[in-house]
Order: sequence, then C-alpha cells, then structure tokens
Amino acid sequence: MSGDSNGRREEWGSRWGLILAMAGNAIGLGNFLRFPVQAAGNGGGAFMIPYFISLVLLGVPLMWIEWGLGRYGGSLGHGTSPAIFDALWKNRVAKYIGILGVFLPLVVLVYYIYICSWTLAFSVFSAIGSYPVVQDGSAAVSTAAYLAPYRAYLNDYIGASSGNVIFTPLPIAYLFFVGTLVLGMAILGKGVAKGIEVLNKIAIPALFIMGFVLFIRVLSLKSPLDPNITAVNGLAFLWEPDMSGLFNAKVWLAAAGQVFFTLSLGMGAIMTYASYVKKKDDIALAGLATASLNEFAEVVFGSTIAIVAAVIFFGSEGASVIARDGAFSLGFISMPAIFTHIGYGGFFGFLWFLLLFFAGITSVVALAQPAIAFFEDELGWTRRRSVVTLAVFFFVVAHLPMLVSGALDEMDFWAATLGLVILALFEVIIFFWIFGADKAWEEIAHGGRIRIPRVFFYIMKYITPLFLLVILVAWSYDQLPGILSKSDTGVWAARAFLLALLGAHVWAVRVAWRRRRMRQFAQVQS
Ligand code: TRP
Ligand code: TRP
Repeated sequence: MSGDSNGRREEWGSRWGLILAMAGNAIGLGNFLRFPVQAAGNGGGAFMIPYFISLVLLGVPLMWIEWGLGRYGGSLGHGTSPAIFDALWKNRVAKYIGILGVFLPLVVLVYYIYICSWTLAFSVFSAIGSYPVVQDGSAAVSTAAYLAPYRAYLNDYIGASSGNVIFTPLPIAYLFFVGTLVLGMAILGKGVAKGIEVLNKIAIPALFIMGFVLFIRVLSLKSPLDPNITAVNGLAFLWEPDMSGLFNAKVWLAAAGQVFFTLSLGMGAIMTYASYVKKKDDIALAGLATASLNEFAEVVFGSTIAIVAAVIFFGSEGASVIARDGAFSLGFISMPAIFTHIGYGGFFGFLWFLLLFFAGITSVVALAQPAIAFFEDELGWTRRRSVVTLAVFFFVVAHLPMLVSGALDEMDFWAATLGLVILALFEVIIFFWIFGADKAWEEIAHGGRIRIPRVFFYIMKYITPLFLLVILVAWSYDQLPGILSKSDTGVWAARAFLLALLGAHVWAVRVAWRRRRMRQFAQVQS
C-alpha cells in the first residue's frame, strides 16, 4: 500500500488546503483561454444561458459524484477509477472501464505541460521586455497587421511555419518545457499535503490577486481606435443576453463541453484528489466551494480580461476574429500586442502570463496525480518510483505534440472533448444505477456541512445521465465524421500513440489485479 512509511494513505493537511487544491485542479488555462474563445465563438450572450443551465444540471452534480466516488475509494485504500469502479460493481469489466480515469488525464498532460511552459516563458519575456514594440497606430488600419509581429513571435517560439509538418521550437522553448516538467514532478515528489497542497496554498490566492489587478486594469483601458469604445462595449460583447442560444444544439454542446473541461470533470482527477479526504469529512460544501471558486475565476476574470481588452483595442469585429482563431491567438498574441502598447505593459504582461502559469501548473499536478495514485495504490510502488517513471514518460512523449503538427488537436479531441463525457457517463451509471442511488446519495451526504437539496437526487439519478447521453450522441454525430476523415501525419502519430498507451493501461490493470488475487490467496492460506 502507498503513503508514508507506516503504510497509511496520504491525506490533505487542512480543510482550506483541500479546497484550494481542488480549486487549483479546476482553475486552469481553460478558464482564461478556452472559456472566452468558446463564449465569443458561440454568440457571447447566447452562450451564457446554456452554460449556466449545464453548470447546474451537469457540472455541480458531477462534482459531488466525483467527490463521493473518490472519498469512498480512498476509505478502501484506492484513489483511481479502475479500483473504485471494481469496488462498486462486481463485474470483470468494471476495472477496464475505469482505465479512462488514469488514461485521459495522462493524455491531456502530454500537451498541457508544454502549453503551460509557454506561459512561464512569456511571463519572463514580458518582464525583461523582449517583446517587439511596434510604434504605430495601425490598429485602425487592420487588426491583422497590428498583431502580425506578435503572431510571428509566438510562431518563432514554437517553431511553427505554415505548411510544415515538423515544428522546430527555439532552444529556449525546450528549456522552459524541461523546467516546467521538472518543477511539476518535484512538487509531486513531495506528496499530497507537502507538495500539491503547499503549491496551491500559494498559487491560488496569488492567482486571485493577479486576476483582480488585471481585471481593474483592463476595465480602465483606453481605446486607441475610438475614444467612445470602453470596457462597457467589451462587457456587452459577452453579457448581452440572447435567448437564441437555447435553441441551437451546437451552442449547447459547446457550453456543456466547457463546463466539463473547466471543472476538470470526467477525467478522474477530482476523484483522485477526493480520495485523500477523510471518511468523516464534509464533501457536500467543499465540492460546492470548489465549483464556485472555479466559476468566479472563469466568469469574472476569464470572461473579462482577454475579451474586454481585445474589444477595446480591436473593436467587436476584431475581437471576434481573434477569438475565432483560437485560444492561443487570444492569450498569446492579442494580449502581448495590447500590453506592449500601454504604460507599464511589461509588468501587466508579466502578471497575465504568470497568472496563466499558476493556473496551469496547479492543473499539471492534478492531471498527474491519478497515474501516481494508480502506481502507488494498485502496483505498490513508492512515490519516488512513480514520479520518476512519469517524468521520464512525459519527457519522451511530449515530443509528439511539441514537434509534430496536428498531434495536439487530435489528442485534445479524443481525451478532452470526447473521452471525458464517456467517463462521466460511466461514473453516474455505476454510482447511481449499479451501486444504487440511495447508497450513492448517502455516500455524498455523509459528514456534510450542508444538506444538498433533495432535488439533486433526482437530477443526479435521471437528468445528468440523460443529458450526458444526449451530448454523447449529438457530439459523435456532429464531430466524429470530421475527425475520422483527418489523416495527416500528426493525426496518425497521435492515434498510434493513444492506442499504445491504452494497451499499456490494460496490461497494467491485469498485472495489478493478478497481484491482488495472489495477495488475497496468501492471506487465506496463512
Ligand atoms: N480544468 C482545467 C482547465 O480549465 C483543465 C482540465 C481538464 C484539467 N481536466 C482536468 C485539469 C483534469 C486538471 C485535471 O484548464
Ligand atoms: N484547441 C485549442 C485552441 O483553440 C488548443 C487547446 C487545447 C487549449 N487544449 C487547451 C488551449 C487547453 C488552452 C487550454 O487553440
């Protein structure tokens, strides 16, 4: 068994530490980059209503379900879904379905560490002023021209030039990647309370302070285009209510997908963190607090900073174009372009990228912990061995998204768009339908500092799984044909990698369960 030398599993050090760690798990690059892109790309105000409905019917119920599953597993000495599903459902396939709860976060991490390392690099570049400063008022001429030097800067860094299959990142990009990897693994090496919890106790309060400073700065930006454009135009861009989104399936899919991604649901990562909660401790209020902190960061900071700044500098049209171009344009191109044109821009640029880095690194450790828990709990490895194995693994495989064009998006699709809906569906079905709704509800309510309204019992039992099923079918119908028809080198490389990694997981689960049977047999004999 894992944990300290006397064989006990690790536990969180304090309640605040737990809540901040869970907030750090959920708050990530998705809050500041993916959310504004999704919202702006799906009609702004039209997106927000399906988003909030999905939050209540999917996000919060699944948050409680994952906390409940995790704490239950932890009380049996297990922190990942292969063993947790196996304990809840006496069927040989349960543990294989549970593989998703280790596999998905690993896949996401393969590219997430790299993106996270850009944020650290760019915070340093902003601070030392190595960004190009283009002295002209060309924003009025064309957004594209204004952004061009900053786009070139990012493309140089990651070594992307259009049409090339192979990226050639700058040596400094490679160094920052290795540094970020080593830092993340060093934190994980210190364990749950002394590593992950300490990191989050520093990073999350700092993130909220930086978010607040940037929020105020952006709201008071002056437009170089037209003195009549102010933050109000930027806010209207997202918050002008628009009912049309309610009747648009594509908007619903995007909104539900964002709720999932931002809350880190359907990956096993919340479950693993919850497995280090003591059986008698509250999860009802803590789960709600996690979701609330994440939503605050997303809806207040994530929706304003990057979008409002883009609207003020480039107008609503320009901002739409940037957002449609993706998360990287908004975060890594538009923001530096704006900051290099305002007073103390280096400082604000530094804050922006450091905020992203703190959001990212706290998610990096959360994405890695399921694999570590699996090694420790199911294979009996030491923490040291688990962390070193993972570090070597990531060092090798991260070259795929780093060097091969198209691999990142393919991995992102299978793991972070499709895979998490499938795992979430299994979580609800196994917990509420196979294990039993009354027992599942009791598991979640146990030790609660608040009483969860009874209506959530019915939501969790009926509405959440139904909603998930509809999303899964609609999504597959909408997106699978397009994805499956892709066939460039990077796409095939990513698919081969995903299959090999899945195979390795099946093998690891077989080994773990064979050992477990041998142990049980030995106990019966003695
Ligand atoms: N929630 C993270 C973000 O907003 C991304 C994420 C998805 C994640 N699933 C996760 C992070 C699992 C940690 C663990 O960027
Ligand atoms: N597909 C994203 C884009 O529009 C890239 C991406 C994948 C991403 N996962 C992410 C961005 C997580 C931010 C956070 O560019």
